[in-house]
Parts: sequence; structure tokens; C-alpha cells
Amino acid sequence: ALVSMRQLLDHAAENSYGLPAFNVNNLEQMRAIMEAADEVNAPVIVQASAGARKYAGAPFLRHLILAAVEEFPHIPVVMHQDHGASPEVCQRSIQLGFSSVMMDGSLLSDAKTPSTYEYNVDVTRKTVYMAHACGVSVEGEIGCLGNLETGDAGEEDGVGAAGKLSHEQMLTSVDEAARFVQDTGVDALAIAIGTSHGAYKFTRKPTGDVLRIDRIREIHERLPNTHLVMHGSSSVPQEWLQVINEYGGKIPETYGVPVEEIVEGIKYGVRKVNIDTDLRLASTGAIRRFLATHPAEFDPRKYFTETIKAMKQVCIDRYVAFGAAGHA
Ligand code: G3H
Ligand code: 13P
Ligand code: ZN
Repeated sequence: ALVSMRQLLDHAAENSYGLPAFNVNNLEQMRAIMEAADEVNAPVIVQASAGARKYAGAPFLRHLILAAVEEFPHIPVVMHQDHGASPEVCQRSIQLGFSSVMMDGSLLSDAKTPSTYEYNVDVTRKTVYMAHACGVSVEGEIGCLGNLETGDAGEEDGVGAAGKLSHEQMLTSVDEAARFVQDTGVDALAIAIGTSHGAYKFTRKPTGDVLRIDRIREIHERLPNTHLVMHGSSSVPQEWLQVINEYGGKIPETYGVPVEEIVEGIKYGVRKVNIDTDLRLASTGAIRRFLATHPAEFDPRKYFTETIKAMKQVCIDRYVAFGAAGHA
């Protein structure tokens, strides 16, 4: 059944587990996520980014998710809109039937420029007012997602629109997080603790100075009843980088967020863990390997089946590691 995010995150908090929230753009990702959830009996959060809506079209994504609900009626599914750039964008998603939206007011509506606290509160509060009237959950974001190694904020390519920022400018402050939750009434709060979107998060296995799990703990101590969200939480599996590079790819050395660090965050209130890049890497590796080893094959179902298998295993691993298995 389609459920709101608040329902799932409350259950996750009561039972001390975390939920991966996978980005979805196409049928293969949707199947991988659902087959994995079905196999380990886990609840599902799927999210559509602005890029996904542009690629597939919001109605296609919506029906893909509704199809999942129809085929797997025993699995609770949240249809979440990832990184909404304005209350208007969120309103459109609510109208389309999304059961949860993210209002990312940490950036202006260009989705690039860091905003002020007042702007963030204003757009987030408006979204909460509208969404709650419709039974829809809201995720807000406070702090500036970015790379503490380089000081680059925002962008996936690591070139921040804001230029170089200091650690304290990028990290979510405990005081501001507390004020923001009070001022907006969000159901879940995305925080900045040194992770960034995409495959290039860290140049080496991250240590505590660039991946600030200690800050999650401090925020959780102040806000024990707030569901925390980690963005940029792909682990960037070295095995998949190896497969991609072995079969013609060229991805430089890079590291993600180790699964064990996410599990540590879950002990301190992280309930939603956003993952997109890991499924992209698994999918690309599986396709490269299949096409290289089956040069005469041209039925797309053959190589797309390989991508489903590869992504499904990543999903199963995360459901199990985060403790979500068995909770559907
Ligand atoms: O928010 C970041 C997600 O990885 C979505 O990426 O905008 O390329 O779909 P995208
Ligand atoms: P990754 O790029 O680490 O998968 O993060 C995805 C994300 O945060 C989507 O909102
Ligand atoms: Zn994100």
C-alpha cells in the first residue's frame, strides 16, 4: 500500500532501524528495489528527483510506483519527491499523488545557490502547511551538503556554486537544526555532515574529520524525536568500480560513505538514507560486463536483466545492514 513517510519513519524510530531511500528513474530500478524488499520483507521509500521527472516524466514515474504497489500489495511504499526546489514544485507532486515531499530550502529555487535561514524557514513552513493538509509528509534540509575535504558545496561534480566554504559553514549546526524544526514542523530533517551527492565524495576511505558522525549524535541528543535524513549516502562499492574499469570504463579512485558508518548514524536517529549512485554504478558495471562478454547479444532485456540482478543485490545488502529487513 502507498503510505506516508511519517508512518514508516515513526515505525523505524520505535524499532531503531533505518530505511534506505532509493532514487528511481526507470523500470529496472523499480523492479530491483521491489524484488529486494519482497525478498527480505522490508518497507520501501522510492524517490523521484527533478532529473528523474525530466527523464521519465512525472506521470510515468508515478505509475511505475503505483504499479509496484499493485504487484507487491503487502509492502508499504512511500512515493517521495526528492529535492523539491520550491513550494510550487512540492504542490504539483502532492497533486500528482506523492505521499511525501522534500522541500530543499537550503538552496534557492535555482537549486544551486545557498539560501538564508529565513528563506529556508519561509518556503519549508509553507510546504508543511500545504502538505499536512493533504496527509503528505515533509522533509526539510538545514546546512549545506558538501565535501569537507575540498570545501566544495552542492553540485554533483564537486564544483560548488558557493565557492569554497569552511567546515563550520557547511555542517549543520545543532542550534540551527533545533530552531529549524521548531520553526517549520517538518517530519524529517536532512542534515549536512560531510557527505555530497555523486560518486566523488572522498579521495580516501573517510575518517572522522571529513565524515562527521559525531555531529549526528549531537543533533540527536538535542532533537531526540526528530527523524534525521542522510543525503549523499552511497557507499561507492569498490567491487563495482573494478568491474566498470575492467570492462572499458574509466572511473578514477574514489570513496563513498562506508556502510558501517551509516549503521553508526542509525544508532543516533538517522532514519532515512538516500542512495542513488550505488544503483547507477551497479547497473553500469552489469551492462558493461554483459555486453563485453556477449558481443553478439542485442536483446535489451538480456542486459537489463543483468542490471536488475546487480541493483537488487545492492538493495538487499542495504535493507539488511540498516536493520529494515523483516519490518514490512
Ligand atoms: O539528489 C541527487 C540524486 O542523486 C538525484 O540525481 O538529479 O541526477 O537525478 P539526479
Ligand atoms: P548518492 O549520490 O550518494 O547516491 O546520494 C543520493 C541522494 O542524496 C539523493 O537525494
Ligand atoms: Zn540528496
